[in-house]
Amino acid sequence: MTQAPFHVPVITIDGPTASGKGTVAQRVAEHLGWHVLDSGALYRLTALACLNIQTSLNDEEAVALVASQLDVSFKADKVFLSQADVSQDIRAEHVGNTASKIAAYPQLRLALLQRQRDFQVEPGLVADGRDMGTIVFPDANLKIFLVADVQSRAERRAKQLKAKGISANLTSLLEDMQARDLRDSSRASAPLVAADDAYVIDSSNLTIEETVGKVLLHWSEKIN
Ligand code: DC
Repeated sequence: MTQAPFHVPVITIDGPTASGKGTVAQRVAEHLGWHVLDSGALYRLTALACLNIQTSLNDEEAVALVASQLDVSFKADKVFLSQADVSQDIRAEHVGNTASKIAAYPQLRLALLQRQRDFQVEPGLVADGRDMGTIVFPDANLKIFLVADVQSRAERRAKQLKAKGISANLTSLLEDMQARDLRDSSRASAPLVAADDAYVIDSSNLTIEETVGKVLLHWSEKIN
């Protein structure tokens, strides 16, 4: 397994589902002119591929094999699986829930490890996920752990879904989110935890811009 080149800077943003880390990572990367890795998309793509070809979700080896053979490309803000644009499909709640279930498999996590590290290219990378600062980029230059209370996250997710014309029930979103938080943080392999050297930012009462501002402030403190 190749360790990423240490001279290419990395900022990791980990946190629970709907904490806003994806949008924050995107904006921070845009601001710095860096690349972005949405690692959750790789777990979602694996989940979607398994659902499409009816791989048994209980078969760890088979799921890991699907992950190692994924034909994926990211172009602008679109994601392609075997040439098909699946940008919307991977965002479906059932795909996210399936991703969270299979993400507990160590063999799957290993199958995706190098693919994630390959994103560390000049001039820099902002990587978001659950284990970016602990496992994938343990030597990252700046580690952020983004949290928000579950009620605010469920409300944000409901708003996002509504904006896309998808009806959402807040109570069931809240329950799903609590179940997913528990699964992501209690699994044995690479659980969702803050790295010891991560800065924790609570975005419950912050706008996206304010959160991005805090991350950039930490970054400018690091490099000055
Ligand atoms: O960030 P997201 O909601 O798109 O991620 C979907 C699922 O993938 C999440 O519930 C857990 C898993 N995941 C993971 O285990 N490790 C990561 N680095 C990113 C996502």
